[in-house]
Formats: sequence, structure tokens, C-alpha cells
Amino acid sequence: MPTRTLRTALITSAIAALVRAAQPSAAEPIAAPMRDLRWGKLNFLHTTDTHGWHGGHLQESQYSADWGDYVSFAEHMRREADARGVDLLLVDTGDRVEGNGLYDASSPKGKYYYDIYRQQDIDIICTGNHELYQASTADEEHRKTVPNFKGNYIASNLDYIDPESRERTPMAQRYHKFQTKNQKLDIVAFGFLFDFNGNAANTVVQPVKDTIKEEWFQKAIRESADTFVVIGHVGVQMQEFKDIFKAIRKQNPSTPILFFGGHVHVRDATSYDAKSFAIASGRYFETIGWMSMSFNEDPTLPESDPSFHRRYIDNNLLGLYHHTGLNASTFPTDHGRNVTAMIAKARKELDLDYSFGCAPQDYWMTRTPYPSESSIYTWLEKEVLPEVAVNPSRKDVPRLVIANTGAIRFDIFKGAFTRDTTHIISPFLSVLHYIPDVPYAAASKVLKLLNNAGQIFDAEHLMDARFMGIPEQLAINESVIYSKDVGRGFSPESQQQHPQQKPLGSGSSKEKQPPALVQGYTTRDDIGNDGDDAVHAAIDFYVVPNCIQSEVQFPWEGTPETVDLVFFDFIQPWVLLALKFSGGGSYSDKDVLSYLDSTFTELMAGWIKKNWPLRC
Ligand SMILES: *[C@@H]1O[C@H](CO)[C@@H](O)[C@H](O)[C@H]1NC(C)=O
Ligand SMILES: *[C@@H]1O[C@H](CO)[C@@H](O)[C@H](O)[C@H]1NC(C)=O
Ligand SMILES: *[C@@H]1O[C@H](CO)[C@@H](O)[C@H](O)[C@H]1NC(C)=O
Repeated sequence: MPTRTLRTALITSAIAALVRAAQPSAAEPIAAPMRDLRWGKLNFLHTTDTHGWHGGHLQESQYSADWGDYVSFAEHMRREADARGVDLLLVDTGDRVEGNGLYDASSPKGKYYYDIYRQQDIDIICTGNHELYQASTADEEHRKTVPNFKGNYIASNLDYIDPESRERTPMAQRYHKFQTKNQKLDIVAFGFLFDFNGNAANTVVQPVKDTIKEEWFQKAIRESADTFVVIGHVGVQMQEFKDIFKAIRKQNPSTPILFFGGHVHVRDATSYDAKSFAIASGRYFETIGWMSMSFNEDPTLPESDPSFHRRYIDNNLLGLYHHTGLNASTFPTDHGRNVTAMIAKARKELDLDYSFGCAPQDYWMTRTPYPSESSIYTWLEKEVLPEVAVNPSRKDVPRLVIANTGAIRFDIFKGAFTRDTTHIISPFLSVLHYIPDVPYAAASKVLKLLNNAGQIFDAEHLMDARFMGIPEQLAINESVIYSKDVGRGFSPESQQQHPQQKPLGSGSSKEKQPPALVQGYTTRDDIGNDGDDAVHAAIDFYVVPNCIQSEVQFPWEGTPETVDLVFFDFIQPWVLLALKFSGGGSYSDKDVLSYLDSTFTELMAGWIKKNWPLRC
């Protein structure tokens, strides 16, 4: 592999598909102008929030490589590190599960996932909140992934409670001190989860500010280390990482500290001081993060700061060929091919390509305004919810049906809507609940409260209304709080117009780009706007509300006296609170009934089968 300087090169799309890996039904990759990787002494590949997308993005050519291709890529990159006499470490920061048929469609869930996932050699790995919502998921994590990555799995602030003995023990070791393979650098690594409290009863998450006071932590940060590596299911702008940074830095004034974060589903990088660096590597296996660090090694110079470099690698086969200097016939390794085959077999057994119908157009979460004809939320509100939210015994009762936007996790692309798509769009086991016969005067105020409730709810009840929305917007909020103007291309001014639908990206940039560019990430982070490995045309981003609402079975004129207030079970605590604030009186969980047995995912699939043509 030739040594490359940081330059822009164009790779050609002439590479034949004959021998390429990726899943058989995946879209052909498309070439883009590329920015190269810069190797340092200590180098990292990072995945986060993969949410079961280990088969790659079958409908998006720029992210269509699969976990097997990543296995091949890592093998080549490790060999390159050996050849250069430097070190390469692989990191994963959790939320590996929930969000794609490859994980969700099997019974039990994850039947194929655990074996596929473990095929990658990951050096430092931790837990995300999605591993902990269901007790059974946490059990499987403890029973499978923790031992699969024995010695590499770290749980600095997470305990597990054994179902039989009721014994509470650390989910995995609290920290890990090890030496790198080639340079024998001493690394002290931690693995954190943000201050999460939505977990099932079989795990305990300790708030980070308490963990850093623990004796074991205070001892660990006094170990001799060439570098501290903090991985976490934590956004790199979040307070938890800043607190950990402060604690380690106080004890180690000059040791480099590297952070690998996730959770907020964005590409992001920052540094907390001149000797620290932090990267977050997106979501859904669209991105493989690259971070490298070099030390100043000239003994005649006074001690100076290390230099850092970051890249967000699109999970695109052509890009992976480019970064390794290989091609379709030389890139796939034996092991990588086997993993690709494992995934193909699992997808086939799960019948993930089974089509419920053909989407007549694209429906977007945030690429178009809500409401609009191509908004997935308008589609839900106007077409899907009114038709599927029908309880036969209450079908004539006027109702308000409230869905939280966070229940929808991905866009719908024009074309086949498959079994896989149902899990991708709606991975949660959401069901509809309701309160019968709520005075309309109170019920009609609920939506507005849910969407504007920030202050009311936060001040008195510590229930952050933003958790009903989509995780990508949590990152925008952070950029508002911590922004140095250039945060992620979102300007604080436009955010303040929330909840109006203002484009947050600079939508006009499309005109300045050559027309051939594929739409994709155009990341701006605290380091600059050159982080993405592939040069893309910008995608617009529109803010969406926390919740949307359909009015169903309303009279032709006027408003009803009372309505059934129907809502997704996830938002029940907020709905009850909003009813209280809207003067609806005091409703509690006891007043809430099940509206329908089917999950929302099943209802949506049923609607598609009925309303969209079977074939494209
Ligand atoms: C890939 O590279 C090898 C070695 O450089 C070459 O022999 C082969 O023809 C190339 N294959 C393709 C499909 O470009
Ligand atoms: C790949 O699979 C083949 C056939 O099952 C097996 O013989 C081989 O050992 C596997 N190779 C690797 C590297 O996993
Ligand atoms: C962002 O989140 C913080 C903390 O939850 C909250 O106090 C603040 O009001 C939010 N800002 C916006 C603009 O939503």
C-alpha cells in the first residue's frame, strides 16, 4: 500500500461488480472524490450505533458495504500498521442492537447477530442504552457479547444483576490496561455509558460524576500510561465526557487522552485541550471513524503537543478499496467473505427481502419540511394513522392519535418496502394505548404541550421532552449549547426558531457543487469541514416536532365534547403529565387502556400491503 499524503484523488467507478462482496441485493457503490487517511503512531477504526445494520445499506450505494467487508478492511489495515511499525486499535461504542431486521426480525431477537458481530476483532468495546432497554437484551449481552470480547469489553459505570442469584456485579471489567502490539505503548482504557435511567431492572447505571469519585477509578487514572483511551456511549459534546476528561487531566497534566463517543448519531469531533481529542462516528454502520495520533519525537525540541487527525469513512466498498489500495478481486479476505456469506444466509432465512409493497416515492424524516408531501410524518399523520388506529369497539368515537417522531427511525426510499424495511423504519415494539372519553378541551392541548414543553417539564419533573423526538436532534441541541458557531453546520439562530421548519444546513450549497456528487454527509465539526472521506453534495435538515397528531372520526362541523386520546405507549408518562397541565384533571396509569394488540410495525406493514402496489 503506497504512502499517501492528504490530497484529493478521484477514484474511478470502472471496477467491475463481478467479484465484489457486500450483500447480493445491495445497491452498486458509486465513486466520489476522496480525501485520504493520515496514519499516525496510534491509529483507530471506530464504529458506533450500528443498530443491527451489519448487512450494510442495501438501498444506499454509498453505505452498502457489510460487516464482512469491514472484517476484510480491518485485516488489511492491521497489516499496514504492522508494516509501518505503528499500532491500530478497533473500537465500538454500543447500540449494536435494535433498528434493523438482521437483529430484530428473528425470534428470539439477535439469533444471527451475535455470531456475525463477533467476527470482527474489536480491541475496546462498551455498552449502549439499547443493549439495556429489555431485560432479555441485557441478559444476552452479558451471556454472549461480553464473553465474546473477553478482556476487551469494559463497563466502567454499568452493573449487571444475575437473574438467579440476584447478585450485582460489574457488567465487565471497570477498565483495561494493556500494551499495544508493535510499539508497546501503555494504554489505560475506560468504557462508559451516559447517565441513562431507562434501563430494565437487571442492570444499574452509575452516574458518571459518582463513578469518577470511586476508588478504583482514582487508582486507574494514577496508572502509568502513554495514552488514556476513554470510549463511551456518550456524545462528545456531553457533560459526562467533559467530567471524565477533567478528572483524568487533573491527575495527568501532559498525557494524551483520546475519546470515542456515540449515542447522538452524528459525525463529530472536538478537542477538550491541546493534548486531547474526541470523535463520534455517526450511526447505522454508515460510517467507520478513523482517528490517528502522532507524538513529537524530536528530542532536541521542547515537549510539544501530539497531533491528531480524523476522518469519517463512508461505509462504501469503493472507498474501502481506495484506502487500502486494493480492488474488487484483491480486497475481500477469506474471513471477510465468510462473514458476508453468514449475513446473506441469515437475511435469507429471515426472508428480509420479502416485499410488502412498492413505495411510490421517497418519504423523508428530516430532508424535507414537515408538513409536506414527502415528509414521512405527514404520510403517517394523513394516511397511515387514520386508517390503522381503529379499535373495532370504539371505531365511531372521535379520537386524537399522537405519535412521537422518535418512533420512526429512518427514511423510506422509493421502491420495494421489505420485511427488513419495516424493522428499519419502526424497530421498537410500539403499541397504541388510550384514555377513553377525555374532554376535548383538555385533550386538544396535549400535542402543543408535548412539542413546546421543554421548560415546564424540565423544571419540575426532570422529564426531558426531547426524548420523544429523534436522537439526531439531541445533537443539534448540544450544538446550540456548546456551539462555536460552526457546530455541525447548524447555526444557533436558525435553531431558535424551533419548532418552525427552517433548513439548518446551507441548502444552497448544492448549486456550488459539481452536479455529479452523490448526496451525503458534509460534516462540519470543531476541527473543520474536511472530515468526510468522500466529498458529497449537502443534504438539507429540517427540525421536526417531538410529536405529531391525527384527528380521526371528527364531526364535519365543530368539535367533539370528548375524544379517545390514543398514543404510542412510549410517550405515556409525558401524555399524562401534559393532561395535568392542560387542565384535564389528574389521570394516572390506571386510566390508560390498551387500544390495539398489534404493534405499530405490524399495523404499518398491513397498511402498505393494502395501499401500495405489490410490484414496482
Ligand atoms: C486488481 O489488482 C490486481 C493486482 O494489482 C490486478 O492483477 C487485477 O487485474 C485487478 N483486478 C481488477 C478487477 O481490477
Ligand atoms: C471460511 O469458511 C470456510 C468454509 O466454511 C472455512 O474452511 C475457512 O476456514 C473459513 N475461513 C476463515 C478465515 O474464517
Ligand atoms: C437543550 O437542552 C437543554 C438541556 O436539556 C435545555 O435546558 C435547553 O432548553 C435545550 N435547548 C433547546 C434550544 O431546546
